[in-house]
Amino acid sequence: MAQSDLYMLYHGLYLAKFGYTTESLKYFESFQVQDDDTFIITYPKSGTTWMQEILSLILSEGDLTPVLTLQNFEKIPWLEAKENDQLVAKLSSPRAFISHMPYQLMPSTFFSSKAKVIYLARNPKDVVVSLFYFHQTISFLPDPGTFEEFTDGFLEGNVMFGKWTDHVKSWRNADLGDRILYITYEEMLQDLRGVIKRILRFLNRQLSEEALKQLIEQSQFKAMKQNKMSDSLPVSQKIMDNTKPPFLRKGIAGDWKNHFSPELEAKFNAVINEEMEGTDIKFLLDKEHQ
Ligand code: A3P
Repeated sequence: MAQSDLYMLYHGLYLAKFGYTTESLKYFESFQVQDDDTFIITYPKSGTTWMQEILSLILSEGDLTPVLTLQNFEKIPWLEAKENDQLVAKLSSPRAFISHMPYQLMPSTFFSSKAKVIYLARNPKDVVVSLFYFHQTISFLPDPGTFEEFTDGFLEGNVMFGKWTDHVKSWRNADLGDRILYITYEEMLQDLRGVIKRILRFLNRQLSEEALKQLIEQSQFKAMKQNKMSDSLPVSQKIMDNTKPPFLRKGIAGDWKNHFSPELEAKFNAVINEEMEGTDIKFLLDKEHQ
């Protein structure tokens, strides 16, 4: 199907028609954010589902019931996605949501609230690889073509939620003070315990050593893959092809090295570095994080 049939344009961003409707976006825009709400904000394929698992377990104080009995979108819903208003209405405070929206498109009540944000970013080279495979698996996204073609489109922002650089910069420049915690996917791989402790401090929460251990175990890639509630999307096999790369695919840093030619890498770095100039987020491209 042509790209124009599968996407709608929302403030210049492509959104998959399958997952978003005019109504769901209106609901998002007029959503009444509360001071004790927490948002997980990500650009797609940055480890959203992983953080969703972790935050669910923090909010349940280590009780595994939600992660074993609820699908991802039920544990912590996407605020802008279609038909999620019913799920959101059922949440009790303190509530948690996921959003892929850039900062400037958040609901107006978000800006005047004290709601907190966990912003999770990932090396964009691994993001584009992950997204490339996701386009192969999910029938409501356009055929990605070759990896080079897809990467060109990614750099131009012709993918869902637009340019990676715009997204990261919008949230990095956000005037949120201590309401926002920045985390990278690579840090989570290197030191998950340390990251979880930072999240606990940020949210003024505590977990017993036993609960913390259980959380770390339950949110390992292998454990999440074995949990059908975590390795899933709320879609039929017609939409998500089981014969294609799985939703939780590899779960590593640096898979880009198996996909980028030296020329493509040079071009990618040049574009991203130019667009990130003047920001302090170059670390995502540093060798030590790859
Ligand atoms: P890969 O495709 O590189 O494997 P999102 O949830 O934002 O769509 O991100 C999906 C990416 O996060 C996928 O990357 C997926 O495998 C990875 N991921 C999910 N859970 C993970 C975990 N527990 N540990 C490491 N990576 C994880």
